[in-house]
Amino acid sequence: MPAAPRRSSASGEHRLAEPPGGADLEGLRAAAAGCRACPLWKSATQTVFGEGPAAARLVLLGEQPGDREDREGRPFIGPAGRLLDRALAEAGIAREDCWLTNAVKHFKWVPRGKLRLHQSPGARDVASCRPWWEAELRRLQPRALVCLGATAAQAVLGRDARVERDRGRAHATPHAAATFVTAHPSALLRVPDEASREAAFARFVADLRRAADAARDGPQGAPG
Ligand code: URA
Repeated sequence: MPAAPRRSSASGEHRLAEPPGGADLEGLRAAAAGCRACPLWKSATQTVFGEGPAAARLVLLGEQPGDREDREGRPFIGPAGRLLDRALAEAGIAREDCWLTNAVKHFKWVPRGKLRLHQSPGARDVASCRPWWEAELRRLQPRALVCLGATAAQAVLGRDARVERDRGRAHATPHAAATFVTAHPSALLRVPDEASREAAFARFVADLRRAADAARDGPQGAPG
């Protein structure tokens, strides 16, 4: 079991990750496994790199791995991942056709009794890790990119990005022909009443459908 994290880290501990230039996705994965660019590796079990086919046209970018992802080394396999799987199925998207990854590749947590409580990554954690997802996207060249939640949206579109304002349409970015923003599946899990949860889920599915259309249709689905 990795050591519990210290509450704060000295400011000198964050550097930019340095993905190897000529590496393919598997080479990137291998290099990311040893990443020490920010302090999060110390309390995480392992780096959780993206997964999916190299030919994926649709990429989903989350925030950071959760407890289960950290233990098993794969993105989106915990409760948020199960909700995402249900939404993908409803949107007619095969998970196996997508590349799933995160803006931050180590689990950030604080101990609470026997639990490891998720802590949102800070701006410096996100900035350190950025070269990894940028390198993934340069290799993948997807037609559509979906930012799941505010951390991913702000990493890709800039700090002014807002999920509720910016969802529902394609944005132009250097990372994909069409970039979309939607809610994070964990946020849907936290919606307290069932009717609102169902409505939020339906909007989430509609956002995924829009991205799937862009991934399938290519440039027509891209921002004009
Ligand atoms: N939440 C994320 O943002 N990513 C995961 O991989 C799991 C949960």
